[in-house]
Amino acid sequence: MKKLIALTLALVLCLSVMAATAEGYKLVEEGKFIYATSPDFPPFESTDDNDNVIGIEPDIIALICEQLGLTPEPYATDFDGALKAPAAGKADAVVSGVTVREDRKLVFDFSIPYVTIRQGIVRKVGSDVTMDNLKDVVIGVQRATTGEIYAQEDFGEDHVVGYDKYSFAFQALVNGQVDCVLVDDMVGQAYVKRIPGLEMVETTYEPEEFAFGFDKGNTELKEAFDEQLQKLQDDGTIESIILSYNE
Ligand code: ARG
Repeated sequence: MKKLIALTLALVLCLSVMAATAEGYKLVEEGKFIYATSPDFPPFESTDDNDNVIGIEPDIIALICEQLGLTPEPYATDFDGALKAPAAGKADAVVSGVTVREDRKLVFDFSIPYVTIRQGIVRKVGSDVTMDNLKDVVIGVQRATTGEIYAQEDFGEDHVVGYDKYSFAFQALVNGQVDCVLVDDMVGQAYVKRIPGLEMVETTYEPEEFAFGFDKGNTELKEAFDEQLQKLQDDGTIESIILSYNE
């Protein structure tokens, strides 16, 4: 029995060493960078007619992976699932417009942040919902997002309806099931452009920074990405990718 345990341990050790690449970082699958994402978040990530994941983040990831000799592969799920995927061993990182937060730092090693946004309120044209009367209305959000966290903290769970995808939250707004959607402003703008009859107003919530979340402890992988990300920041590539989605 002891021998069997020792043998199993040796095998497990062998396999994990094999999974580590020459560069010293761990990957779920050799040669691949699997990133968990919730593609309901244009312009950061959405799907095209052929169900390919497209957007600012897939573009950035593609450039970084090219430099590192890795094949990028999106693992599309809802946002809650995307946040859980790295720890569950289903992805190497979450790349999903993730706001850096202290509580999330317990679970992830975050890359350097690459963009700053704020929460916005999307409402029907003609509606009078603003930051001042949010407490009197029903707010739609995506589950597990900062929008949901803020709305629940400030106005109580009774005022908040969480959806698996932001697209469902906007559908609910159009149908009149919620009075507004609390969402990252660049994403709110993208939905306003896509769905007639909606508009966005600002909130006074603190600015939020987006970064990629690597499984806690996979420092080598995070550092390899940071090095490339910093270059793309410095030479203006990130900015021009973001601008290119400003339809
Ligand atoms: N920035 C917000 C957060 O981190 C929302 C992210 C939602 N992302 C998505 N791909 N649907 O909580």
